[in-house]
Amino acid sequence: MPRHSFKLNGKRVSVSCDDDVRLLWVIRDLLGVRGPKYGCGINVCKACTCHINGKAFNPCSVPVSKIKRSDEITTIEGLPKTVGKELHPMQRAWLDLDVVQCGYCQPGQIMQAVSKVNEIRRKEGRTTITDADVDEIRNICRCGTYPRIREAIKQGAKQM
Ligand code: FES
Ligand code: FES
Repeated sequence: MPRHSFKLNGKRVSVSCDDDVRLLWVIRDLLGVRGPKYGCGINVCKACTCHINGKAFNPCSVPVSKIKRSDEITTIEGLPKTVGKELHPMQRAWLDLDVVQCGYCQPGQIMQAVSKVNEIRRKEGRTTITDADVDEIRNICRCGTYPRIREAIKQGAKQM
């Protein structure tokens, strides 16, 4: 069986599985990292959102064979380490504003929010997040926590 290796939350990992196994199952079922959630499996709900080399992506739609040895995958579990703190500022904002309802979509929401803020800073040098920026985020929340997510992204961005 093919062997696949990449970095996950700062550590090198290796797994043996078929090339077409989606990365989400590798992360969750073979490596036991359960922050990224399974919702649709077809790149629509965004519950599985993680970062690849610092940018948001959806591992439910990526075969593990597409991941290079040098690629760095970060899940919600590894997010605090990217800033050398116990909690990432976006997670702190989430707690301060009590965003979560059932919680299922929230790891993906936070990972997407961090990626979005970083993208805006990188491309436009802006540190203020607008309603229009948040409107571009497509992560689905069945509990309807969108108003609190919106405020948390704005607050978290100020502390990033
Ligand atoms: S489970 Fe990945 S986008 Fe829905
Ligand atoms: S908090 Fe329940 S799906 Fe978003």
